[in-house]
Amino acid sequence: MENVLKMEFSALAENEAFARAAAAAFVMPLDPTVEEVTEIKTAVSEAVSNCVIHGYGELCGDESFAKNEAPTIVMECALEKGNRLTITIEDKGVGIDDVDQAMEPLFTTGDEEERSGMGFTVMQSFMDRLKVRSSKGEGTTVIMTKYLDVPGEY
Ligand SMILES: Nc1ncnc2c1ncn2[C@@H]1O[C@H](COP(=O)(O)OP(=O)(O)OP(=O)(O)O)[C@@H](O)[C@H]1O
Ligand SMILES: [Mg+2]
Repeated sequence: MENVLKMEFSALAENEAFARAAAAAFVMPLDPTVEEVTEIKTAVSEAVSNCVIHGYGELCGDESFAKNEAPTIVMECALEKGNRLTITIEDKGVGIDDVDQAMEPLFTTGDEEERSGMGFTVMQSFMDRLKVRSSKGEGTTVIMTKYLDVPGEY
């Protein structure tokens, strides 16, 4: 049995809260623990803010980009096999040069004063699996899997 939610929204910082709340609402029927919900919300926030800040950050000043292709983020939440939650967050932004390096704790290409380089590490620690696919100039897809602590089917 599978349940899927797919949504596309403008890559704006104010939509981060909506994405986070939507993911939390999606898992509510499984009666998750407060801790699980907090972990899911935090992981979604980190992934979405990366799309806004890094994926599209430098493109936002690009006039043709703004005119022709309003930058958006696609989030898909899927529940399979009763308790396997997969959240996929995708942007069509600048992409990542070296994914392994980007995933290292403390690595950042951002402003050292504002960014700590811990987003991927947070996603990794709060979810059971994290996969990052990215190509330069084409965008980035983050796939996070978490096994919720619920018995049997939902
Ligand atoms: N969606 C994305 N598009 C392009 N580059 C990305 C994307 N997500 C992450 N990156 C790259 O990976 C690096 C590491 O990301 P990570 O979230 O771990 O740290 P950060 O965003 O730099 O800092 P923090 O999340 O702690 O504020 C970023 O600095 C950026 O270079
Ligand atoms: Mg980050």
